[in-house]
Amino acid sequence: MRLPEDVIESFESHFDRKPEILVCAPGRVNLIGEHTDYNEGFVLPMAIDRAIWMAISPRPDRRVQVLSADYADESGFDLDDIRRGQGWPEYLKGMAQMLQTHGLAVSGFDAVMGGDIPRGAGLSSSAAVEMAAARAFVAVSGLEWDPVRVAKIGQEVENKWIGVSSGIMDQMVIAAARPGHALFLDCRTLEMQYVPLPSGVSVLVMDTATRRGLIGSAYNERRAQCESAARFFGVHSLRDVSMADFEQRGAGLQGAPHKRAKHIVSENERVLAALDMMRSGESAALGILLNQSHISLRDDFEVSSPALNQMVECAWDLAGCLGARMTGAGFGGCAVALVETKLAQSFSTQVAECYRRIAGLEPMIYLCQASGGADAVKLPG
Ligand code: GLA
Repeated sequence: MRLPEDVIESFESHFDRKPEILVCAPGRVNLIGEHTDYNEGFVLPMAIDRAIWMAISPRPDRRVQVLSADYADESGFDLDDIRRGQGWPEYLKGMAQMLQTHGLAVSGFDAVMGGDIPRGAGLSSSAAVEMAAARAFVAVSGLEWDPVRVAKIGQEVENKWIGVSSGIMDQMVIAAARPGHALFLDCRTLEMQYVPLPSGVSVLVMDTATRRGLIGSAYNERRAQCESAARFFGVHSLRDVSMADFEQRGAGLQGAPHKRAKHIVSENERVLAALDMMRSGESAALGILLNQSHISLRDDFEVSSPALNQMVECAWDLAGCLGARMTGAGFGGCAVALVETKLAQSFSTQVAECYRRIAGLEPMIYLCQASGGADAVKLPG
């Protein structure tokens, strides 16, 4: 797809008029801080230059009619009678429902939607659809764009409409990102800090070309194990457990909850250290934190996969690689590497060759720019 031109052209031919507004919501890659968000911990993601685009026009009635260019499928619903179904329209319906539950008066629209975020790859394509839908409703309904409020509503869509107990990271970074910056987020207070990427360092996303279905059940199970570990420590969430606490009292915790807690407690420390390294431009030390994060996700949180491990090990061995780890929920999808910009091109080629040889699969390697958050612009009439 040529974006965003194709969604605009497709709107014109499908609805036989010009779209009035163009909405864009980026995907994201998490640099470090994995599975910490629902433990009220710290994360450090950035929005990427791959996005969901929507060409839209308000409607006079209460209908929402959307053509998905990616699925070659059209779907519509009435804002006063939203019923659950299946597939891609659920993110739009869920958003319409939750906005109304929060007392926001939303209006109908026609839209064509398309994007270039690989799906199910750990780059938050679904949160991007939610935030694009939110941007669209806000634009046609004359509401104010409040990134934090909308991100919280997006998380409710995931939790209550889709049924995945995910945290707030994806929606927050998609709603609030700034170009050229990663976003440090305290998931308890929602305090944000914009952190510039170190100079001379590129972010590469490496798609293993593997996807795991039913990820929701493994994800919800990890969350329950973290909650059980928090109960053991007598705290509201694992955010409140320091490494010293863990070392002192953690031995009494058995099995999976012990390993899960070890990851969360150490990962929170790594995110805070990473924030310091980003600020001081210590990219080599930052890279080492990414490597440690991967090992912890692989061995303690147990959400990596053979393909993700192979990709990350390929990256670790290459010149110019400062650090690499799986990114997102895990079990398949993408890894992320920090690479010296001057070696980024040769790194891309070599990491793909290595992965192809070892895994026997064709990977996709994306050099990503840190982008701004969800946006809506008025199109010329
Ligand atoms: C998914 C969830 C996020 C977060 C990550 C893991 O992307 O949507 O809330 O928990 O997994 O860090």
